[in-house]
Amino acid sequence: MLDKIDRVQIVVPDVAEAARGWIELLDAELDGQDQIVGLGAMRQRLRIGTGLIEFLEPNAEGVVAEALAKRGAHLFAAGASSSQLEKLGARFADKGINPLFEGGQFHLNERETGIEGLRLVISEAQERLRVGLVDFLYEATILSADTEGVTRQMNELLGLDGSNYTEITSDVFGYRGTLTLFEKDCLDRLEVITPTREGTTMERYFSKFGQSLYMAFAETSDIRLIEHRAQSMGAGHTVDRPADRSEDLPADQLWLHPRSLGGMMLGLSRPSMAWTWSGHPEWVKPI
Ligand SMILES: [Fe+2]
Repeated sequence: MLDKIDRVQIVVPDVAEAARGWIELLDAELDGQDQIVGLGAMRQRLRIGTGLIEFLEPNAEGVVAEALAKRGAHLFAAGASSSQLEKLGARFADKGINPLFEGGQFHLNERETGIEGLRLVISEAQERLRVGLVDFLYEATILSADTEGVTRQMNELLGLDGSNYTEITSDVFGYRGTLTLFEKDCLDRLEVITPTREGTTMERYFSKFGQSLYMAFAETSDIRLIEHRAQSMGAGHTVDRPADRSEDLPADQLWLHPRSLGGMMLGLSRPSMAWTWSGHPEWVKPI
């Protein structure tokens, strides 16, 4: 019942400051402000790729103020779109779940998802033109020790087809887990992984915050330009480029560190690269 990963929500102490990296590194564009009264927050929307970043800054007591006080700026909710929003609402009601519905979106807290560390914002599906240096968002990642259990719960909550499920293992980056594609042969998914090696950034994050949202991933046709900008601006980033590939050619993946983007790590992969770990390595275009 979900179409796309269409956005993420990040809680921040200062939206103007948080938006800066997105604008300077990725040519994101400001897209207006409003409020989500039920979360006690002012929202600044930012257009990037075909999706959105929603920065939430507390303007009253509430869950956003609490989340910010507890952890500082961080990834607050994963966002997906659905062309069956009403049906999804009925599915929630059948399960006795009555999430906040405000501004045309369902805002599910952890009690409502039934999954510790997972908040979701679900919006009506909408076609948007690409903005900036990102093509599209396709993944939000949850860290968990129980990847199978969380995946099962998520699929049941959201009506996802468990047969679109892929096992993911990375010995290089030290994690394993599962992802369920929202639709067969489309990349969009919620990923549930567990770090398998001591001392990685992911493992440290998991030790500190426990089961929680960790990062988002997007595809970009401009990975070389983004790398160049991050280098020249001194913005924290990590590059994955095979040792035998010239630096003039695109990297396979790039991570912009949370400090570069107002509190959330963003992974970027060159076009088609994500199929390496999404069930169709034969679809990856060689460089
Ligand atoms: Fe991932």
